[in-house]
Amino acid sequence: MSGLIPRGFIDALLARVDIVEVINSRVKLQRRGTNYMACCPFHDEKSPSFSVSQAKQFFHCFGCGAGGNVISFLMDYERLSFVEAVETLAAQIGVDVPKEALAASKQHDQKTVLSQVLADISAYYQQQLWQEPSASAYVKARGLSRETCVRFAVGFAPSGWDNVLRRFGCDAQQQQALSNAGMLITNDKGNVYDRFRERLMFPIRNARGQVLGFGGRVLDNRLPKYLNSPETPIFQKGRELYGLYEVLQTKRRLTQILVVEGYMDVLALAEQGVEYAVATLGTATTTEHLQRLFRYTDTIVCCFDGDNAGRQAAWRALEISLALLQDGRQLRFVFLPEREDPDTFIRQHGKAEFERYLQQAISLPDFLLQHLSAQNNLNHLDGLARLASQAAPLITQVPGKILQQLLFERMSGVVRMSPDKLRAVAQSTPIHAARAYPSTPREGETAPPPPMRLAVSLLLQFPQLAQQVDLEGVDETVQLPGLAIFCQLVTCLLQQPQLTTGSLLERWRGTPQHSYLQKLAVWEHQLPEAELVAEFEGAVRRLRYLCREKKIEMLLVKANLQGLEYAEKQLLQGLIAEQQP
Ligand code: CTP
Ligand code: MN
Repeated sequence: MSGLIPRGFIDALLARVDIVEVINSRVKLQRRGTNYMACCPFHDEKSPSFSVSQAKQFFHCFGCGAGGNVISFLMDYERLSFVEAVETLAAQIGVDVPKEALAASKQHDQKTVLSQVLADISAYYQQQLWQEPSASAYVKARGLSRETCVRFAVGFAPSGWDNVLRRFGCDAQQQQALSNAGMLITNDKGNVYDRFRERLMFPIRNARGQVLGFGGRVLDNRLPKYLNSPETPIFQKGRELYGLYEVLQTKRRLTQILVVEGYMDVLALAEQGVEYAVATLGTATTTEHLQRLFRYTDTIVCCFDGDNAGRQAAWRALEISLALLQDGRQLRFVFLPEREDPDTFIRQHGKAEFERYLQQAISLPDFLLQHLSAQNNLNHLDGLARLASQAAPLITQVPGKILQQLLFERMSGVVRMSPDKLRAVAQSTPIHAARAYPSTPREGETAPPPPMRLAVSLLLQFPQLAQQVDLEGVDETVQLPGLAIFCQLVTCLLQQPQLTTGSLLERWRGTPQHSYLQKLAVWEHQLPEAELVAEFEGAVRRLRYLCREKKIEMLLVKANLQGLEYAEKQLLQGLIAEQQP
């Protein structure tokens, strides 16, 4: 937290960097009188309402209300933590953040502080549940016993604007922690108040039981029905699963874990004795979710609505699961009858009937076949061919050799092609459907620029390209998102040219970059074979350009701040000369 980097250092830093330069290198600014303007990077707009003042060293958007100093800009724009933003700025002007301060701030670990605050608040909410008749009546009406509520630490945020703020935000530092933990809202006028008011509260805990955030439901039919904690340093929706902690607490051997949609589904299932359900937090199932669950079980059953949207969601889950399916692991899909969710289903039919229904979950190979068959006319040869060309590249993603073979065999029965032929198809399939760039790596990370994504992606997919890179001028130390990974990949491949996409990716397993690299590795760019090398060289050329640009920028900043050494001046001139078209 901010308190731990010496104030004096931050002051000095802010005195030396210029917000206009920092922002302008990310969002092109136009001078308008004394201010600089641009279209706001924080919301969609056609005419510029984002303004940066050099005199005030402050930015502000008239459209969406975003605003702050250069540190806030970096935190919001590049989704950095405070410390990271400070480090970024310090690096830009070539100074180090005092080491003791950094170490101390990391030791003090803001994450621990945040989850402690949330644990205290959760205890408070729990206590409130039984003091507010309307809240306890609500949980009762939904069929939840006191034991279940206690086990899941269900609570209630009473009405009022500042219950949490008053109790847990006694000084500025505590208020900052509350705000960082997502518990407060600041309105346009700068007034601060509790995010959650008059809601049933579901604490979201990690596997160790630390509270990371909350979901809150209204007691009536006001909107929004659910409100969730925003993404915070400790809470990322796409990674956490509601109910996982409680499932792990049962200490049973987990023959399967069921993934459902809602908080109330998990609670109703647990109430009825189905104690192996978790819920995604209002997002689609992600690779991280599945990866995490496969640590605890070999069988994941995903539960979806029976409608078209449910089927689409299931297909997406299938697509992201393929690369995780080692032999022995399985993913199954269950589609509920229309207008039912697990909560209504189990309360009406009971545990036995629900589990019978689960038994009928469709296996991944069946679903794969079913889904692709429905999209192609299997009475025609070209329908079969299309099916084969769609299925083959999916199947080759499966790392489990046995499962992969099984899938090829299943498919070969349908398309009347031998499994080996199908494999051959997989290797040569010209990419069929156009796809956009994979989206940003993860929330919380900066998206590398398109040439970087293209270069990394091509390298991952065609590792032999590494032999053709001329890394001259691509400087690993330049702060360009994705550059470090690119350089690591090249180094790795030069040392071990025999690495394949799969073995290359393996080195990143368990790292934050993994799922992103995985997306790039399967990204279909539809480049003809003949143009791969040229395209790759083009991307690297553009990287070199970006690196030079960045270096020039840093040298210019330094020139302004403290002047340049002779050698640096030479370097700068050289760089500028090279940069000419
Ligand atoms: N959700 C959300 N924000 C909303 C609506 C839904 O985050 N405005 C998420 C919640 O995690 C919720 C899940 O999506 O649990 C499922 O939503 P929905 O089906 O609408 O609610 P139920 O879980 O069925 O809740 P209830 O039975 O209480 O209506
Ligand atoms: Mn429901």
